[in-house]
Amino acid sequence: MKNCAIVGTQWGDEGKGKIVHFLAEKADVIVRYQGGNNAGHTIIFDGKKFVCHLIPSGILENDKICLIGNGVVFDPIEFINELEELEQAGYSCKGRLFVSDCAHTILPYHRLLDAAKEKAAKNKIGTTKKGIGPAYTDKAARQGIRLAEYIDDDAFQKLLSANLESKAEDLNCDIKALKSEIMEGRNAIVAKLRNFVADTSILLADAIKDDKKVVFESAQGTMLDIDHGTYPFVTSSNPVSGAAYCGSGIGPGAIQEVIGIAKAYTTRVGEGPFPTELDDAIGQKMRKIGGEFGATTGRPRRCGWFDAVVVRTAARLNSLTGIALTKIDVLDSFEKIKVCVGYKMQGKTLTAMPANRFAYEQLQPEYIELDGWMSDTSSATSYQDLPKKAQDYIAKLEELCEVPVQIVSVGPDKAATIVR
Ligand code: GDP
Ligand code: IMO
Ligand code: MG
Repeated sequence: MKNCAIVGTQWGDEGKGKIVHFLAEKADVIVRYQGGNNAGHTIIFDGKKFVCHLIPSGILENDKICLIGNGVVFDPIEFINELEELEQAGYSCKGRLFVSDCAHTILPYHRLLDAAKEKAAKNKIGTTKKGIGPAYTDKAARQGIRLAEYIDDDAFQKLLSANLESKAEDLNCDIKALKSEIMEGRNAIVAKLRNFVADTSILLADAIKDDKKVVFESAQGTMLDIDHGTYPFVTSSNPVSGAAYCGSGIGPGAIQEVIGIAKAYTTRVGEGPFPTELDDAIGQKMRKIGGEFGATTGRPRRCGWFDAVVVRTAARLNSLTGIALTKIDVLDSFEKIKVCVGYKMQGKTLTAMPANRFAYEQLQPEYIELDGWMSDTSSATSYQDLPKKAQDYIAKLEELCEVPVQIVSVGPDKAATIVR
């Protein structure tokens, strides 16, 4: 196996957790490089189910090293909760799970500011309210608190006081009480947390030098990327593969493969443009069969047809070398299946998402229609087992996105995975 990055090609929830966990078996190190616990990566195997939010999906393979890179925004309390859940399930993490000392922390006031901003906004983003945006804002404004400072008693006291002072007006609450609450929460976990803090850039460089195999695990998806996504309806980081270098602390060249995870249809949770959205019985059928409810917030996901404009764009932005196509089984009972191949806007056909937010609502998807296969794919164990019409669908997506489909996922369980 080569070092590989796993990225979402759509608006998140493509099945990254499942595929990272599947590939982790053959890897040595798994690294998260951006986002935070806004992510919800579902892993199902041997009758067990886990949702990883902050900890890499490789953690469920007992002998793997897992790193949380400098590019992640890190909620220490949520980390300890997730860690304890894993420990209770029998997974030992000490000595193989490390968090970058440069990662910026998400503190309770970031969550408060996130929720308050969403509540007051006329044009809501529909964030996960985990404090992601405010924490990245502080980082960019050079007001953030790094993990190395969070675990240092004196440094944290000083930085917390200064931060609360500067945010007092926006927070509009009893700052003294909030400060005590933050200190109490922090003091309860900091001794345990210290065991996991390290310079993960050095750990990663050493692993690569030793020819260890690394999987870079993205959160969110390309259309939620702050530079390349449907701005402003995006997250506050760069999920694209290029960010794997910066967010994990290595230089370009260490990644040889980039696998884009694409759902066989499209979903989106939160607000923002979604040209192929189906606000009808077909969309509801997708949601029901696909179990399309947020793994982090429980919100119903919006559903629609596969958008080849989006996935082809993701192929370019991420230098995809292959696609893992997930949830093909969800389409087993659809007589006709549509695929968006372009957008009509003011008489012209667009082959990429426009940059101007006021153009989004004018986009009319142009579709091709294929025959559904109307038979079960969930028990297929090889590519040849798939119905001919399902193979035709996959071939059409490969042609439209200009990337080979290397993995086909036919069910949520790890075992329901076909490698071509
Ligand atoms: P992630 O955020 O990209 O890791 O994806 P999520 O875990 O948020 O959402 C994907 C959902 O689809 C989870 O409930 C998975 O268990 C499920 N899933 C993944 N692959 C498949 C598949 O091939 N078929 C079906 N039916 N479900 C899948
Ligand atoms: P995974 O890794 C789907 C969406 C939110 C909202 C926007 C901004 O599980 O694929 P944020 O809280 O990041 O400021 O919210 O991004 N969003 C996701 N949607 N999957 C995710 O992660 C997401 N993480 C954030 O719904 O629209
Ligand atoms: Mg998810």
